[in-house]
Amino acid sequence: MAKRIFIRTIGSYLPERVLTNGDLEKIVSTSDEWIVTRTGIRERHIAADGQTTSDMAAEAARAALATGEMNIVDIDAIIVATVVPDMPFPSTACFLQQKLGARNCPCIGIEVGCSGIIYMAEIAAGFLERGQHSAILAVAADKLSAVTDWTDRSTCVILADGAAAMVFSGEESGAIAEFLGSYISADGSGAEHLCMPGGGCRNPATEKTVTDRLHYLKMNGREVFKRAVRDMATAVQKVLERFAIDSSSIAHFIPHQANMRIIEAVAEFLNVPVERFVTVLDHTGNTSSASLGIAMDEASRAGRFKKGDLVMPVSFGAGLTSGAALLRWLK
Ligand code: UT7
Repeated sequence: MAKRIFIRTIGSYLPERVLTNGDLEKIVSTSDEWIVTRTGIRERHIAADGQTTSDMAAEAARAALATGEMNIVDIDAIIVATVVPDMPFPSTACFLQQKLGARNCPCIGIEVGCSGIIYMAEIAAGFLERGQHSAILAVAADKLSAVTDWTDRSTCVILADGAAAMVFSGEESGAIAEFLGSYISADGSGAEHLCMPGGGCRNPATEKTVTDRLHYLKMNGREVFKRAVRDMATAVQKVLERFAIDSSSIAHFIPHQANMRIIEAVAEFLNVPVERFVTVLDHTGNTSSASLGIAMDEASRAGRFKKGDLVMPVSFGAGLTSGAALLRWLK
């Protein structure tokens, strides 16, 4: 029989500084009305100037460890999902390890955009099933503000900073949820629709790449929107099929928080009332890999999940990657 996998604890972090739609009206040609009706976002959090992705990751990790009454010495592997690493290398997971004072554990970095948490769940489950690790810290963090083009109104109004952390373990005792399984996918044919073209070996940093603004996140918003709806709906259906259940069995969907209209379209496609989708994007914006973790943490703290609830996180992001997972809430 396959080993059972559990989420022992969850935590999240949003930087102190809040940027409202009104603040953005002073930076680019936009309006609170446009941003709210086209995205559902009212405000977002922006990291301090010197604050790094690993700083935010450490805050979320400490919050998760404290909530789960765990100590860093309990952790024997670290995974970090980010597309805004502290440096191109070494892995941000190693900087996080340094900040948390974790010793002698493997550190893994993955760059799957906003699908980070679902991918990390699948990787953590594989590690735990092999039986060589017992508690895996998985942290999704992105300082998107560092790669946001503050002159591009089509992206700067949705992007934001934040981090979320979970500990996966093979022990049911003390766990908040059971991870029942997941589906992960990618469609590299759409890779250029959401990317940062500069800084890698295709466009190494030069004066020209800076002048051409290649070190900023670029997004073909309309195309990404369409694919997000299609691929998130597909990911949900794949997991439902695998477990031979209906969408009506899912008490709460936790979607990637990119745009309220995307969430509404996925809900409509699945014929599920949108009220069953947890949303926090009105006050968080699109926090990339961390977004559904922040949503899950806030909903959990608000007591929204009941013991026995089936909960389904679903994501879509750069790559273009997508995925969904099935959880059973235990507390
Ligand atoms: O997290 C990873 C995945 N990311 C996503 O899922 C994001 C997916 N995309 C989106 O959420 C939406 O495409 C955006 C929010 C980025 C843009 O919304 P849209 O409804 O797709 O707008 P659009 O690009 O079709 O533009 C419509 C109009 C354009 O004006 P014209 O050409 O019709 O005159 C834009 O120039 O809205 C204009 N526009 C704006 N107006 C005011 C674009 N951005 C803004 C803005 N304020 N911030």
